[in-house]
Amino acid sequence: MMKQDTIGHVLLVAAATICCGILAWRTLSLGRHVQEASIVQSRKGTKNALYTYSGENIKWAACGQVDNCPLECSSIEVPKDHFSINNFDNETFNIPLVRMRGKNATQNLLVNPGGPGGSGFAFMYDDALDIMDVIDESFHLLSFDPRGVNSSRPLATCYPDQGTRKRLSEIRATDPSRDSPDVYAWTANFVHACADTMGEAGRYINTPQTAADMNNILDAVRQDDMRVIIDGIANHFDWYGALIEGKDFIDTDKVLYGIFDECVKAGSNCTLSALADNSEELYRKFLDLTAKIRAEPISVYINSTLYGVLDYHSLWFNGGIRPRPSWPMDLGIHLKDGPSGPKYWPQGRTNLLDKLLPWYGNSSFAFAQNKLYYAKQQWRIPRTHGFVPRIDVETAHPLLVLSMTFDPVCPLASARVGAESFRGSRLVEVKGYGHCSQAMKSSCAVAHIRNFLQEGVLPDTHVQCEVDNEYYVKPE
Ligand SMILES: *[C@@H]1O[C@H](CO)[C@@H](O)[C@H](O)[C@H]1NC(C)=O
Ligand SMILES: *[C@@H]1O[C@H](CO)[C@@H](O)[C@H](O)[C@H]1NC(C)=O
Ligand SMILES: *[C@@H]1O[C@H](CO)[C@@H](O)[C@H](O)[C@H]1NC(C)=O
Ligand SMILES: *[C@@H]1O[C@H](CO)[C@@H](O)[C@H](O)[C@H]1NC(C)=O
Ligand SMILES: *[C@@H]1O[C@H](CO)[C@@H](O)[C@H](O)[C@H]1NC(C)=O
Ligand SMILES: *[C@@H]1O[C@H](CO)[C@@H](O)[C@H](O)[C@H]1NC(C)=O
Repeated sequence: MMKQDTIGHVLLVAAATICCGILAWRTLSLGRHVQEASIVQSRKGTKNALYTYSGENIKWAACGQVDNCPLECSSIEVPKDHFSINNFDNETFNIPLVRMRGKNATQNLLVNPGGPGGSGFAFMYDDALDIMDVIDESFHLLSFDPRGVNSSRPLATCYPDQGTRKRLSEIRATDPSRDSPDVYAWTANFVHACADTMGEAGRYINTPQTAADMNNILDAVRQDDMRVIIDGIANHFDWYGALIEGKDFIDTDKVLYGIFDECVKAGSNCTLSALADNSEELYRKFLDLTAKIRAEPISVYINSTLYGVLDYHSLWFNGGIRPRPSWPMDLGIHLKDGPSGPKYWPQGRTNLLDKLLPWYGNSSFAFAQNKLYYAKQQWRIPRTHGFVPRIDVETAHPLLVLSMTFDPVCPLASARVGAESFRGSRLVEVKGYGHCSQAMKSSCAVAHIRNFLQEGVLPDTHVQCEVDNEYYVKPE
């Protein structure tokens, strides 16, 4: 079996750039290292008990577990607009928090789940145990649903309910030119509904506001002196400044080739390797198959309630027979970070197509973002933040930047741009395929992460780390 994470991100190159998060922590001030929980409120037994830790400003409640590791939850209110002194109405966003306590920890590692659009609760359920291994339980893992996401309120959504989403979100977009008139007309409704559903709150759901929310979270647990790790990085100059984010997919073909290359290397562990003598031949056979399917889609019948058509678009962009993905949640945030709407984009369908077609010609994966660009062009909610990325930024502590060598959506080149933008930061590269450094195990990368978090020490130069585990294990 291919590692799920790798294949997931290669073939499911989702309709928007998905990037990993920011790990950030602040050391506790002296005198607050001992955190003893004390019950502050209890309703009929201990089930709903609220408790506090000395030195913190918030109350917690038990909220389930992952394997045998208990979780605790809390929430904070944050200003609707961190960047305006005119927040007269005192409106707030509610940011839910979730924490898994490290056995030998006195400090928190604050994890931004990334995306944007990722949920910190989903991160806890899916990835926290792996990260706990990496950090050797020497920190509590603290995460959150960013403003607009999942259980945070108000929500960034373009549909008032799931029924409406199901009913109205389907639009055929498999051919750049043929489907363009339909997608263009459909998008006019979509962006209108986004603005109506989110209302005024929509203006304040963006990444700079979320970064400021992270300061409020650190204040709530009374930590200061932040160190930052970033992992799986988009080109942030393009993210905030470019109309077409043309650098996202520069390594995607290499990752796809890597699936077949590693398959051949894995021999009998990868059944497909029997189909060819070498990597090039296996890759070529796969491309031939996709070309065939493009001309003649294949019907796949399981039974009368479960069947579908394997067509080129669902194979290439969704990695299988699936209903097409509906609009990803992160659209609402992505579009408000960068230049969207008539203020920045030439209007009219043919003007848009003139911009998109050359780009689609450049990369066989770029079309995955087709709907995103239609929405960018017609977007109605104004950008309200004034953040402009800079080079040569000096931070209190230099950053640790993590990247795979071949990442399907956040290429190494973008990680380099990130590392070069922050003075003194260092890049630790894991020499493998996948999205974000945790896609493959690397004891070398783990050593650098621990050194940075526990001792504050960065490597002297850019480091390349080998991958420890196999891409393919023997099928059961
Ligand atoms: C907002 O908060 C300030 C300071 O707490 C208070 O003086 C003011 O009355 C509040 N405004 C409204 C509209 O609630
Ligand atoms: C826990 O932390 C203490 C103090 O930093 C250290 O001496 C001890 O070795 C740690 N134990 C484990 C299991 O990491
Ligand atoms: C938030 O995300 C978690 C993890 O995916 C999920 O279990 C939960 O239902 C979500 N909550 C809401 C309100 O969507
Ligand atoms: C069809 O197959 C699916 C998956 O095995 C199963 O859940 C479903 O009940 C089946 N439907 C019928 C009508 O047999
Ligand atoms: C297409 O690729 C060429 C060469 O790599 C590059 O110069 C150009 O900017 C790309 N065009 C778009 C629209 O991304
Ligand atoms: C095949 O999978 C097994 C685990 O099932 C692993 O130990 C072995 O290293 C793998 N071999 C190759 C060549 O990847």
